[in-house]
Amino acid sequence: MRSSQAIINLSNLKKNFSNIRKKVYPAKVMAVVKADAYGHGVIEVVKALNSLEDKPEYYAVALVDEGIELRNAGIKEPILVFDALVNNNVEDYLIYNLIPTVFTLKDLDSLRAAKDKINYKENIRVHIKIDTGMNRLGINYKEAFDFIKYLSSQTAFIIDGIYTHFATSDVYNNSFAKLQLKRFKELIEQLRQNNISTGLVHAANSGAIINMSDSYFDMVRPGISLYGYYPSQLTDQSIRLFPVMSIISKVASVKRISKGETVSYSRKFKASKPTNIVSVSFGYADGYSRRMTNKSFAIIKDKIYKQVGVVTMDRIMFDVGNDKINVGDEVILLGKSKKHEISGWDWCNILKTIPYEITCNISKRVPRIYID
Ligand SMILES: Cc1ncc(COP(=O)(O)O)c(C=O)c1O
Repeated sequence: MRSSQAIINLSNLKKNFSNIRKKVYPAKVMAVVKADAYGHGVIEVVKALNSLEDKPEYYAVALVDEGIELRNAGIKEPILVFDALVNNNVEDYLIYNLIPTVFTLKDLDSLRAAKDKINYKENIRVHIKIDTGMNRLGINYKEAFDFIKYLSSQTAFIIDGIYTHFATSDVYNNSFAKLQLKRFKELIEQLRQNNISTGLVHAANSGAIINMSDSYFDMVRPGISLYGYYPSQLTDQSIRLFPVMSIISKVASVKRISKGETVSYSRKFKASKPTNIVSVSFGYADGYSRRMTNKSFAIIKDKIYKQVGVVTMDRIMFDVGNDKINVGDEVILLGKSKKHEISGWDWCNILKTIPYEITCNISKRVPRIYID
């Protein structure tokens, strides 16, 4: 087994889920596990959540293939696919019992055609996506009423849910998120007044779960918060969250270099005095961006050391000065020791990104080790 590993702490995942559950109760929870559960390993994540007494009522994935992966692993809970139906093999939704997101008449036609083709006997459960201002997927909120009215008259379909997605819920007290919420609420109200069943109404991602308790409706859709991160540094921190992923490795080599010598490609680090350089088997092919060059840190023996020299595909170096560090000593690239922590946000602040991208980018060749 490789010395560099992503340690996935399933008890932190379960704590995060329970804290979210408590905060949104009595709303149901759809756990968002797309992109291999944001890089944490979808099968183990879903199995861990399913081991809870108050497990998620629904799961959500981005792609049909991600849903199929869960079904092949024996996961029985309802799974919503966020992707647009078009360009997918529509029969797969029916064969694998995946809930399609619909928002056009063409979506309905494709589903009817697939139903006929495979002689699918049941009515098709769908969730309708409403675009309230994100301008990505969904039917515009102004046109939605007529579409939903028509859909509700079609016996081949069951409206199991209706949802929208916020563009700015990760910013506390954001006026655009409030506007989106208002548009969505007005539509739901109009449907209710016309006795059109909506199924489960859902809108809140992690940002809205934290910042907008009036957006919970029947169900919420947490993603990043399950994995222990707030969606931005601008949300309040009203839910306690514990990072689920840490990255550890071992010192692979220790080298004494003299003043004036350089480290790695392009000679971007030059020693100002004699020092010890350790190398670690982790690089940009593992998800340690080259843009972290000379900017990031590691914890070795409960002390922080600076990364030096260009990040290479498979290897990074740290300057440990004159400290006694040996081959095989543990290196924490992401995570906590007794006195120190390197958080996903430390990486984000260097890379000008969000924790989603950090965990998703830890590549497949880094073994995930599950602890509970
Ligand atoms: C439609 C939808 N709902 C919910 C989520 C979860 O969002 P977050 O990870 O910010 O909680 C996502 C993720 O991007 C999404 O695309």
